[in-house]
Amino acid sequence: MRNIIMDGDPGHDDVIAFLVALGNSDRLKIKGFTTVAGNAAVENVTKNILKIIDYLGVDIPVAQGYGSPLCREFYSAAKFHGETGLDGCLNYPESERQADSRHAIIFLRDLIMEDPEKTTIVTMGPLTNIAVLLKTFPEVKEKIEEIVMMAGSYASGNMLAKSEFNMFADPDAAKIVFDSKVHLVLATMEACYSGGILLSEQETLKDGGKVSRLAYDILKFYSRYAINNGWDRTAVYDLTPVIYLLAPELFEYKDMRVDIETDGVYTRGMTVCDDRGPTYIEPCKDPKRVLLNVDREGLTKIFFKTFRKMDEVYQ
Ligand code: BDR
Ligand code: CA
Repeated sequence: MRNIIMDGDPGHDDVIAFLVALGNSDRLKIKGFTTVAGNAAVENVTKNILKIIDYLGVDIPVAQGYGSPLCREFYSAAKFHGETGLDGCLNYPESERQADSRHAIIFLRDLIMEDPEKTTIVTMGPLTNIAVLLKTFPEVKEKIEEIVMMAGSYASGNMLAKSEFNMFADPDAAKIVFDSKVHLVLATMEACYSGGILLSEQETLKDGGKVSRLAYDILKFYSRYAINNGWDRTAVYDLTPVIYLLAPELFEYKDMRVDIETDGVYTRGMTVCDDRGPTYIEPCKDPKRVLLNVDREGLTKIFFKTFRKMDEVYQ
């Protein structure tokens, strides 16, 4: 059993990742969810996750984090997620629940330090909360098993030619986290794309129960971009780190040095994966695990099995 805290900007794919983690509570214990500005304003993404938690009737505490990057302008991804950050779910009732009164970094510190076991952090958004957490309370590092993140790319980006959105959004925070020496696992864009869920497969969720139908509505909106581009599948980005925690054997990866570009004009937030090998560089003392590919069949098996199971539990 792994104790996890999820940090993200829900966000369609963030919510799908949350559902799949929750549906595997025999393997992953979600201790809490912290929010950060990214796909939409932080107040919106906090409301979104509270709404989902309420819909399921589960008891997972949520704490709101930073509303803007460390030292840059906030840049939302409304183009993909709509103004609310979770468009397509507007028919689901708003929640009366409130977020925890603590700021996300205090909440994270408390949950990590109070637990006799180590905690794994799953990040699905810009790394603002995690950077401030590690800088302000460095004692947490010892108690973090690892940070498994949807972050960056090995070769090509989505925001810029070489930069992925979460890293582009707050590159200064990303640099702090990448330099922290905490073990990092990166679910890169390449890994996420290799695990895309076919549009035809997504249709099968429509006839499922309460949780499958929620996932269907979420994916329906989220897949517009794929449909408009004539693709047959959707990369559900933030799902990938959760699948890694459930089935690491499905992934191909390389352990290597990775640096964050903070100054680049064309490469802001690029995850610079250094795989030159010993001819050029000293062996890296602090390699990051860079996920490059996932067995798509294996991923979809877990995905659909989880929703079938959840439909029985949450009626
Ligand atoms: C990442 O950016 C966000 O839009 C998604 O939620 C995901 O975390 C993909 O680049
Ligand atoms: Ca996200």
